[in-house]
Amino acid sequence: MNFTSKIGSFKFENPLMNASGVWCDDKEKLDELKNSSSGSFVTKSATPQMREGNPSPRYIEVPLGSINSMGLPNLGFDFYLNYSLKFQENNPGKVNFISIAGMKPEENLEMLHKINDSDFKGLTELNLSCPNLPGKPQIGYDFEATELILKQAFEFFNKPLGVKLPPYFDMVHFDQMAEILNQFPLAYVNCINSVGNGLYIDTENESVVIKPKDGFGGIGGAYVKPTALANVRAFYTRLNKSISIIGCGGVESGKDVFEHLLCGAEMVQVGTHLMRNGTLVFDKILSELAEIMEQKGYKNIKDFRGKLKSL
Ligand code: FUM
Repeated sequence: MNFTSKIGSFKFENPLMNASGVWCDDKEKLDELKNSSSGSFVTKSATPQMREGNPSPRYIEVPLGSINSMGLPNLGFDFYLNYSLKFQENNPGKVNFISIAGMKPEENLEMLHKINDSDFKGLTELNLSCPNLPGKPQIGYDFEATELILKQAFEFFNKPLGVKLPPYFDMVHFDQMAEILNQFPLAYVNCINSVGNGLYIDTENESVVIKPKDGFGGIGGAYVKPTALANVRAFYTRLNKSISIIGCGGVESGKDVFEHLLCGAEMVQVGTHLMRNGTLVFDKILSELAEIMEQKGYKNIKDFRGKLKSL
């Protein structure tokens, strides 16, 4: 079975990878990802300096997924850049993604400058969609701010750049955001981050389940798959074909990956399910995907990628 995927000139053995924030905040977990069957990996969204993040409990698994308000705990940008440079040096031909999420636009530009000036040869992801920073709205919901940061970034950044978007829920918003994104030479867009500011309740204790923001947090897992698929499809059908799509949301099986690919995703990320079960999930998901492809007579992902039928 040929699982190869491509973003721009980057080739991957298979389309699977972790969702940023999951299994990727320190060396130990990144090493595990690196040695797993995933086609690539992305590092935890970084801020210029190390951050502790929000108070715990801040990530809870619930029956149909997860709720989190991590608050961007990370080891600081330099750690993830250095990890990526070393990975690249020791694994010629392999590619990873580095994710950045500054607290303000200047911090994003500062980190982009550092990547631009370094030997980093992978893909950079600008996270415009962290829902868990008290008092800070998601940039991806501010269309003018999104356009401005992309304008400022592309004035100097000359390496492959993608954006991580929040979910959108209205056709007009898909149209408007696509019009903005199509103005820029983006390598990819990643749909979706968690569905922001959900509330999960422990009825027995009549309480919220996470501490930050009075229990409001990003929802992931099975809850969000239809929203993720809709966003992948909406952007796949609206963006210039030079912009690839990464699908993220509700992936637990080969069938889920197949659906993301059918909607047009080039890479597919695993979040809550990876957090719950560890890196062996990639082997299981790949074998399930192989089985589905075999049953349907597909030998390559490109035989069906993006070919979702309308009624
Ligand atoms: O809270 C967090 O660290 C999550 C980040 C994100 O969803 O991008």
